Amino acid sequence: MTDGGGQRPGSWEAMPPAGEAGRAPQSDAQHEQVQALVARIHELERLTDLLSRGKYLWESTFDAIQDPVTIIDQQYHIQRANLATAGRAGLDIRKVIGKKCYETFAERQTPCERCPASEAVRREWPARAELGCQIRQRDYQVFAYPFPGAKGSPNAVVMHYRDVTEERRLQQEVVQQEKMAAIGMLAGGVAHEINNPLGGILAFTQLLMREFAKGSAVRSDLEEIERSALRCKKIVQDLLDFSRVTTGQERGEISLSQVFEKVLGFLKRELLSQNITVAVEIPETLPTVMGDTNRLQQVFLNVLTNAVHALPKGGAITITGMHDETHQRILLSIRDTGMGIRSDHLHKLFDPFFTTKEPGKGTGLGLAISYRIIRDHHGTIEVDSREGEGTTFRIGLPVANA
Ligand SMILES: Nc1ncnc2c1ncn2[C@@H]1O[C@H](COP(=O)(O)OP(=O)(O)OP(=O)(O)O)[C@@H](O)[C@H]1O
Ligand SMILES: [Mg+2]
Repeated sequence: MTDGGGQRPGSWEAMPPAGEAGRAPQSDAQHEQVQALVARIHELERLTDLLSRGKYLWESTFDAIQDPVTIIDQQYHIQRANLATAGRAGLDIRKVIGKKCYETFAERQTPCERCPASEAVRREWPARAELGCQIRQRDYQVFAYPFPGAKGSPNAVVMHYRDVTEERRLQQEVVQQEKMAAIGMLAGGVAHEINNPLGGILAFTQLLMREFAKGSAVRSDLEEIERSALRCKKIVQDLLDFSRVTTGQERGEISLSQVFEKVLGFLKRELLSQNITVAVEIPETLPTVMGDTNRLQQVFLNVLTNAVHALPKGGAITITGMHDETHQRILLSIRDTGMGIRSDHLHKLFDPFFTTKEPGKGTGLGLAISYRIIRDHHGTIEVDSREGEGTTFRIGLPVANA
């Protein structure tokens, strides 16, 4: 913690003792005066010592707090800051003092969105808010405590920043999972009910088709009914997949490079015809993961099919795998150089039925199913994308014997 200056006065013990040789002898009155002065000096020294110990104590307290804490004036100038503030900002603590908090700490031109400092000053009462913007890629809840300035100076504000990034992420995950569970139940029920009548439609259409010659008008109508019914069947199957709860019985050790090899085999035709190159950078020594091969295959097929759809004019797909030894996880990344995803679509990507594809081309279940499967495998799936540049899906899975 620093206030940018101030030195402890030197010890009074260093002063020459009173009545050195060569001086005239003192009268009793003078002697008493000197005694009084010395006593006062000692008292002052005691007070100075007390003060500096107090200063040390409160500075250490300030610095012991792991969250950034600052004292700012009403123009947002930092008067004091603890070490955590400088640490989070990656700045030398001495360079922070006197600067505006939003310029140094938050790297902005204007105060942070929803900053509670001005409200605290106006109401002369503590205020708090979750900032509407991130500070150096972290989310903060900020508490502002106003206090009267020293004699004649305006009020200052103690600002306490609590990092809530992880909390927010978990909250979002819980919301997403609840949403998925609710939709999953509903979708599963509906899909189950539709499955039987759909089977009937298909069976009777196919029976009728036998009675009409190929190329006849009735036969081509029946073929159209069959195509539509098959499409519905695929959607119903997706819905059942989405709502399916894994029993864990199908689990075994899986080599991810083998799974990718198989999935890329399914997509060979599309990759060739669309002029898409694929680079697989998965080391042979990559540990296995524990899971259900068919379901993980489904995830990679969904993600890679999306990449293929994002590359109508060709491009590249890169698949990499690495072992994070510290956390005993396999980190996969599937990157394409396709059209990318609009930033306002990113948070909806894993929602069931979110699709930007034209009717008949996609139902918006691919990523919702993938999310569920990965979660069932105790893994994580994230996306990173820039419109016009491409998309990267990152999947983390625990190592088999970890
Ligand atoms: N690699 C990608 N590049 C660009 N957009 C993508 C990519 N992956 C996903 N998307 C976007 O996310 C949406 C949802 O994907 P998702 O796989 O869930 O559904 P879908 O592909 O539209 O349909 P389905 O997979 O059910 O056939 C897509 O419609 C697309 O807009
Ligand atoms: Mg898809």
